[in-house]
Amino acid sequence: MDIKSDVIKVAFFDAKAYDTNVFDIANRDFNFKITYFKGHLTPETAPLTQGFKVVCVFVNDVVNRDVIDILEHNGVVLIAVRAAGYNNIDLKAAFKRIPVVRVPAYSPYAVAEHAVGLMLVLNRKVHRAYYRTRDNNFTLNGLLGFDMHGKTAGIIGTGKIGKVAINILKGFKIRVLAYDVLPDKEFQKNAGFEYVDLNTIYRESDIISLHCPLTKDSYHLIDKKSIAKMKSGIMIINTGRGMLIDSKALIEGLKTGKVGFAGLDVYEEESDYFYEDFSNKVITDDVLARLLSFNNVMVTSHQGFFTQEALQSIAVTSLHNIRDFFAHQRLANEVCYKCGA
Ligand code: NAI
Repeated sequence: MDIKSDVIKVAFFDAKAYDTNVFDIANRDFNFKITYFKGHLTPETAPLTQGFKVVCVFVNDVVNRDVIDILEHNGVVLIAVRAAGYNNIDLKAAFKRIPVVRVPAYSPYAVAEHAVGLMLVLNRKVHRAYYRTRDNNFTLNGLLGFDMHGKTAGIIGTGKIGKVAINILKGFKIRVLAYDVLPDKEFQKNAGFEYVDLNTIYRESDIISLHCPLTKDSYHLIDKKSIAKMKSGIMIINTGRGMLIDSKALIEGLKTGKVGFAGLDVYEEESDYFYEDFSNKVITDDVLARLLSFNNVMVTSHQGFFTQEALQSIAVTSLHNIRDFFAHQRLANEVCYKCGA
């Protein structure tokens, strides 16, 4: 396919001002014709892709079989995911029809640092102290935290982000336990932590942080049964994907005090809310509303990735992926149903 880059039309969904700024700058080196759509890609908006060769999507765009049918019919030849996770793409439906590329790594530091930030904020109740001192209330009642030093953290998933999280936590002199379906023994040797099974993580950890992808096996990894195995007062941090946690079971755990803290950068049903302004509207999702009502829960709006360095890297890699496709280069960042990526 010999197409000059300035006639390669890219339909960019869920575009925010920070996306357009960074992509417009990065695109000076590529010259694609990018059209930014504010809305999500869904079966309803997919017809907008008529005449586009590429769709560029983010984590809350819907790329299911219905959407892929429409994309193919409209002549879209590439799905460029501007994220690492691709659980929102029906890879089986896309297989042998439309290749899917992603950004496997942009800044593992951004996400790992955010996860540790959630731990510190929750432990020392910084979110509550902030409002208290604004109100000229300088008391400490209710703000008592614990030393991170000497506690045990369980890291589930020791890929790029999990590894950075482990290195940061080792700096606090925390005892780190980890679980991964594919343990990295080489990294373990130098980093100084123990690989254990999930039950040991649940039994021994004071803090559990999720850094594995959402797959069939990891769906609702944290549920009523696993919470029952945890220490009373456990802190659970999720910067992975919302569906790693059964939110209703988490709420039950929070109500009984079994779960002492939850730091959630992701939420099962986040696509209806995250990245949008609901400050003048009512939240009709009772589970989300309940989670937001706990003063020992910190919800952030899937912002773990959101650093300058990560955004630039996402833009450059996404545009490289598109260029490689049209230049018939090997697609180093392809994910597909049978690639095992
Ligand atoms: P990675 O692919 O480098 O590492 C994932 C690790 O999880 C691998 O070592 C893999 O073997 C392991 N794993 C897979 N299934 C598992 C299971 N069932 N139990 C335990 N371990 C399992 O991925 P990376 O870059 O470290 O990202 C991890 C996840 O973080 C992504 O899949 C994504 O869902 C999430 N993420 C969240 C962001 C945010 O803004 N909050 C931004 C980027 C990624």
